[in-house]
Amino acid sequence: PRAIWLSRHGESMYNVSGQIGGNADLSPQGWAYAKKLPQIVADSVGPGELTVWTSTLNRTQQTASNLPFKKLQWKALDELDAGACDGLTYQQIAEDFPEDFKARDDDKYEYRYPGGESYRDVVIRLEPIIMELEKNENILIVTHQAVLRCIYAYFMNIPQEQSPWMDIPLHTLIKLEPRAFGTMVEKIKANI
Ligand code: F6P
Repeated sequence: PRAIWLSRHGESMYNVSGQIGGNADLSPQGWAYAKKLPQIVADSVGPGELTVWTSTLNRTQQTASNLPFKKLQWKALDELDAGACDGLTYQQIAEDFPEDFKARDDDKYEYRYPGGESYRDVVIRLEPIIMELEKNENILIVTHQAVLRCIYAYFMNIPQEQSPWMDIPLHTLIKLEPRAFGTMVEKIKANI
């Protein structure tokens, strides 16, 4: 591909309350990002065509809702499944699942939530997405923190074991340009 654009969904009501997983709607700040995104994308993409890929969850679709491009939903882009911990805050997990909380901190890449997924699981389910990406031109992916960490690590040639700790900020459009010598990165922070 010539370029790939990545964005987390705008801030969700669960981001505000510190809960993980779920299918929350955007917060007012998140909607402000959704409103600004078309201009930010237009400035970065220029006149070229674009296809927008989202997950199946409300917050990514709401974030992409104002973008005037063809959209495709992928279940494979849904956030890492937190299983029994879905909907909890990290503090609640530390209290109710103390052994899990420690195990995750010890090996965040391999740790799998009870009835849910690990980062390794996410990397594996992203394989078809990566293959499709390699075949396509100009894709914007609006997805979730854990998923973006894995996609970003892949294109930046960073070992996947490091992806669980990478910083992918909210309300920031990332442009990746894969080249023979490596991938060029530009990060455009929305002013909201
Ligand atoms: O808090 C937002 C979120 O996307 C959660 O839904 C998800 O479980 C978490 O981030 C992933 O980040 P980490 O792996 O650091 O807990």
